[in-house]
Amino acid sequence: MSNDRPVALITGSSSGIGAATARLLSERGYNVVINYSRSAEAADKVAAECEALGAQTLVQQANVAEDADCRALADSALERWGRIDALVNNAGTTRFCAHENLDGLSAEDFHTLYGVNTVGAFQMVRAVTPAMQQAGQGSIVNVASIAGVLGFGSSIAYAASKGALITMTKSLARALGPAIRVNAVCPGFVRGSWLAEGLGEKRYTAMIERLEANSPLARVCTPEDVAESIAYFAAGAGITTGETLLLDAGMHLGRM
Ligand SMILES: NC(=O)c1ccc[n+]([C@@H]2O[C@H](COP(=O)([O-])OP(=O)(O)OC[C@H]3O[C@@H](n4cnc5c(N)ncnc54)[C@H](OP(=O)(O)O)[C@@H]3O)[C@@H](O)[C@H]2O)c1
Repeated sequence: MSNDRPVALITGSSSGIGAATARLLSERGYNVVINYSRSAEAADKVAAECEALGAQTLVQQANVAEDADCRALADSALERWGRIDALVNNAGTTRFCAHENLDGLSAEDFHTLYGVNTVGAFQMVRAVTPAMQQAGQGSIVNVASIAGVLGFGSSIAYAASKGALITMTKSLARALGPAIRVNAVCPGFVRGSWLAEGLGEKRYTAMIERLEANSPLARVCTPEDVAESIAYFAAGAGITTGETLLLDAGMHLGRM
């Protein structure tokens, strides 16, 4: 199979931010690995959209919390195209629990969220690193969250798992240079099913109205906004590593 197009492996690309990233990178000349954990049909649909945009695709089920799945995902991409130019650690999960409700979270919740959001990303990095080092280049983009910067979001366990991912981004940037750059994007509220289902339609709509009224750019993020910044780190940003980019329409600044 021809290997002149760069290859991007995007975890959790059956919907939302991951799917938007797969489409954008396809448009920009990449072949893409579409990964899902449960949503096979949705992943096939994203792959068809990417192919219509000119990409070759590989669709593979993998639970990033399982190291063997992470290694199999990287191996499949290398077998197919012989290269991995960009890894986007986007797969994520949460549990919604009010921060005041300390009894609402168990140790197991922390382990589950860390297993996917933090350890999963680490395992994927470990799986792709030998090929990127051998090629002398590669870019890794971790999809963290504003929750990991400000300590809010769907639960304390979620915020902590994303905070750890941000710290890990800096450690890995130091450890994997000069060949590999490692950066993180931190979306704020993103339109889509993650929050619509997690908050319920009424709270979801009210939250959008509140954020639009209170953020300097008077809007909330879309999956396509996040994909733009991921693509920037994947293909551009040649001088930048260990960076954390906030994508929240300036909400973290607060309103005067
Ligand atoms: N939505 C927001 O407001 C927001 C804000 C900040 C950061 N983020 C982060 O953005 C990322 C994407 O979220 P999204 O909003 O696009 O949500 P989404 O539409 O629900 O997408 C989540 C994706 O992750 C996959 N996934 C979940 N667990 C997985 C696992 N163990 N192994 C492999 N894939 C797994 C899902 O696949 P299956 O359906 O097959 O399980 C799906 O493709 C997450 O890391 C999230 O923390 C989201």
